[in-house]
Amino acid sequence: MLKGARVTGLASAVPERVLTNYDLEKMVDTSDEWIFSRTGIRERRIVEPGQGASHLSVQSSRETLKRAGVAPEELDLIMVATVTPDSPLPATSCLVQSELKAKNAAAFDLVAGCSGFVYALSAGSQFVKGGAYRKVLVVGVDILSSLTNWKDRTTCVLFGDGAGSCILEPGEPGEGVLAVSLGADGECSKFLYIEAGGSKLPPSRDTVSRGQHYIQMAGNEVFKHAVREMESSLVKALKECGLGMGDLDFLIPHQANVRIIDALRRRAGLKEEQVVVNIDRFGNTSSGSIPIAMEEACRDGRLKKGDIVGLTAFGAGLTWGTAILRW
Ligand code: ACO
Repeated sequence: MLKGARVTGLASAVPERVLTNYDLEKMVDTSDEWIFSRTGIRERRIVEPGQGASHLSVQSSRETLKRAGVAPEELDLIMVATVTPDSPLPATSCLVQSELKAKNAAAFDLVAGCSGFVYALSAGSQFVKGGAYRKVLVVGVDILSSLTNWKDRTTCVLFGDGAGSCILEPGEPGEGVLAVSLGADGECSKFLYIEAGGSKLPPSRDTVSRGQHYIQMAGNEVFKHAVREMESSLVKALKECGLGMGDLDFLIPHQANVRIIDALRRRAGLKEEQVVVNIDRFGNTSSGSIPIAMEEACRDGRLKKGDIVGLTAFGAGLTWGTAILRW
């Protein structure tokens, strides 16, 4: 019989530097009023030059290991979900493995846009449930400031940097990750992409001068798909473990826009206090957003043992996914 996969440690790390909407008013033609009313964001955290995804990952992971009471050499696997690795090679997970001195761990990165953490948690839980690994470190991290065109007001007001991580260990069946539902639609890749910097159009003076290394987004299209697909994956994942919307104690959605979160909450019939929202302070941290919010809700005592918690995300791809956990 399959084991359960429970979360035994949880931590997050965000940069110290705060960039407020008022700071952005000095950089592009925007206003605190526009940004807050359209997105729910007041401020975001931005790394210092030279700090990459591994920096925040290691900071978060060290605390995660401490909280779980797990020694680095006990880790079997490190998975880092990110679209902003330190560099194309090696995988950021290998840099994390080295910094942590987790010498017995396999390591790989996973790319699924802002759904990265939910995808990685799903994959990690399969390794644990199937018995292949006993201690899996799952990190969600993004340094979206490195892909942001700071002259483009339609995108630069949305993003921030951050990381969160957890450890998955075997538990009883019915404990921890109960069910997952993942999805993707590559036909919608045109709504959120970066044109250059990969194998098809390698970085060059031309691509940089044309700004092709920055995030391009059709915000309205992403908005519509986000609400629809997060709701349907939530319904599917709940059904998979024999539950319905009414059984959810908490929903921790990807923090991309408070209007997306509100639309999802209304469709799901949840009360405001059942939905964890911290976008006002961190903006959209991509793969970092769910574990950062989850850690906050755990630390302030909102999440209690036995609670049914839904983690739901969407992102570039387009991808989406939900994981249902018994806390
Ligand atoms: N400040 C002031 N005005 C602005 C700004 C700004 N920062 N940005 C856009 N505007 C203007 C536009 O130019 C437009 O002006 P116009 O009417 O004169 O043409 C007007 O505001 C309205 O623009 P819209 O794009 O229609 O605004 P909307 O209400 O749709 O909000 C937003 C835009 C916030 C981007 C929204 O569509 C959204 O959040 N979409 C989802 C984005 C998302 O979740 N992305 C996920 C990324 S995840 C990942 O994988 C990286």
